[in-house]
Amino acid sequence: MATPAAVASATAAVVAGALLVLAAAVLCSSVAGEAELSAGESIARRQPVPAMYVFGDSLVDAGNNDFLPPPAPKAVPPNGVDMPRTVFWRTGRFTNGYNLADIVAQHVGLKKSPPAYLSMTPLSRLDLLRGRVGTNYASGGSGILNATGNGTITLYEQVQLFAKTKATIIRAGLVGHERLDGLLAQSLFLISTGGNDFTAFGRGGVPLSQAPEFIAGIVTDYLKYINELYKLGARRLVLLDILPVGCLPSQRATTANGECNADVNHVSELFNSLLRAEMAKAVVASMPAMKYSIASLYNVFSDMIANPTLAGLREVKWGCCGSGKFNGEVDCTMGTSLCKDRDEYLFWDRVHGTQAAYRRAVLAFFYGTLRDAEPINLDQLLQKPYSTVTAPYSSM
Ligand SMILES: *[C@@H]1O[C@H](CO)[C@@H](O)[C@H](O)[C@H]1NC(C)=O
Ligand SMILES: *[C@@H]1O[C@H](CO)[C@@H](O)[C@H](O)[C@H]1NC(C)=O
Repeated sequence: MATPAAVASATAAVVAGALLVLAAAVLCSSVAGEAELSAGESIARRQPVPAMYVFGDSLVDAGNNDFLPPPAPKAVPPNGVDMPRTVFWRTGRFTNGYNLADIVAQHVGLKKSPPAYLSMTPLSRLDLLRGRVGTNYASGGSGILNATGNGTITLYEQVQLFAKTKATIIRAGLVGHERLDGLLAQSLFLISTGGNDFTAFGRGGVPLSQAPEFIAGIVTDYLKYINELYKLGARRLVLLDILPVGCLPSQRATTANGECNADVNHVSELFNSLLRAEMAKAVVASMPAMKYSIASLYNVFSDMIANPTLAGLREVKWGCCGSGKFNGEVDCTMGTSLCKDRDEYLFWDRVHGTQAAYRRAVLAFFYGTLRDAEPINLDQLLQKPYSTVTAPYSSM
């Protein structure tokens, strides 16, 4: 079936190489004009996102860990307290409400994150088999390294599961090979990982002096997985960088005066800047058709910590739920304290942001400046390829 969309995407694929250069030029020249567009006009120029495929850790896990045996961490109540109620009040979200995957999904026309891979029902599988909606492979506690997050779905396994998903879609035969590649090229791939690999530091683990080598190693591994996804058809990718880990309530609880742990923040910055550099190189070297954005949790969270009022927040040091110093010493459960004014907190628990913080962050990722997302923001990532907007050069 040659639907107009299929023809358009096939054409786009053929000229993708040439267009990339053109698109880059157009993007650069349109950045200044971008601010004059209202969000509505901007959304109208977006290409639809047929599906979202999500990978990584608890910042984006939509319930996979509920299906894993211990010692995989589980989001027990009151996690999810501000989500619409489910039968067993289990939402699988490691925050009070929607998480980063949900909120990104809400910006591209879905109600929430695509379903957790391990929770798929015959109905959600039917969407997936048509190359629609997508699925979420993320697993709380996982990292880039196989050794991070005992009992979780490692990033390696998540990428394998996506390869398996693709093979299953082809076998089901509801969409052909070419059509699927077209749909995947328009789909949004979202990854949040790396933060949990930092638990390797300190207390008998990797000494801080070896941080540069350690970081270089995990970034290299990360790029291999990204390359794998590219070979499998990913063309629109969002990477969340890692937040200022040293400012998490779990870290503040360990410093002398409850300040941020500057060493750990420094290592976070190291990871983030190496990721940007290696990603830029890898795209040129081996992923020429990849469009990507690195969304900066680090900068957005740092800005909210530096200026809470501007972000409408009151508390940026204490977690809302948990126990001990800064509520950063004990995981959030029904047995720990829980704040009421959750929209005024940056942190939900020892290590996760609140829904309110995530909403602010995602808004910045979509419409913010280079400080919030680079080399392009998510709104730009989702714009139609230049040729299909008005095709002014079609007679050339
Ligand atoms: C992770 O484990 C898989 C399967 O055991 C292995 O093939 C892969 O090389 C490992 N990755 C790294 C980075 O060690
Ligand atoms: C992983 O968890 C299992 C089950 O709790 C435990 O037996 C095993 O020792 C753990 N492995 C590591 C490397 O911590």
